[in-house]
Amino acid sequence: MDGRMERTLVLIKPDGVCKGLIGEVIRRVEKEGFKIVGLKMLRFDEEKAEKFYRPHKGKHFFPGLIKFMLTAPSVALVVEGRGAIRRIREIIGERRPEEAGSETIRGRYASDGRRNIVHGSDSPSSAQQEIACLFGPEEIFPYEKDDWLKSEPG
Ligand code: TYD
Ligand code: MG
Repeated sequence: MDGRMERTLVLIKPDGVCKGLIGEVIRRVEKEGFKIVGLKMLRFDEEKAEKFYRPHKGKHFFPGLIKFMLTAPSVALVVEGRGAIRRIREIIGERRPEEAGSETIRGRYASDGRRNIVHGSDSPSSAQQEIACLFGPEEIFPYEKDDWLKSEPG
């Protein structure tokens, strides 16, 4: 893992949950060596979805996107690691499955450019906003993975 220590927001969207891909997405995140410091299931309502996707408000796809986000629960993760923002975007892949690499999550599982399984923050500022939108400070759990593995207490 390269780059600076970062946190990013990974969101398994309603299609990912309904297709049984919660475990698959989490497995890919963990396999990269990243640390999951927050994890929850939630169901968006209109207000929350509009807040989460506020940077896209007014764009032609916004109403359809919001409607889609309300169709089933989502699963949100706060993921920590060096260069996490960029690397997570890489393993997720391009927005449209036909443009995403076949080894990426979207390339493998997405239905189309809206129903594309998973979201990942695209910058430090959006990561900060998206994490604050979905997690309270008491819902984030820092810990030392490597120290634990070295000593294996208990
Ligand atoms: P965007 O930020 O462009 O993509 P990404 O998810 O890769 O960051 O768009 C956010 C979401 O909005 C996208 O995942 C699905 C939805 N969307 C559409 O439904 N249609 C569109 O034409 C675009 C651009 C986005
Ligand atoms: Mg985006």
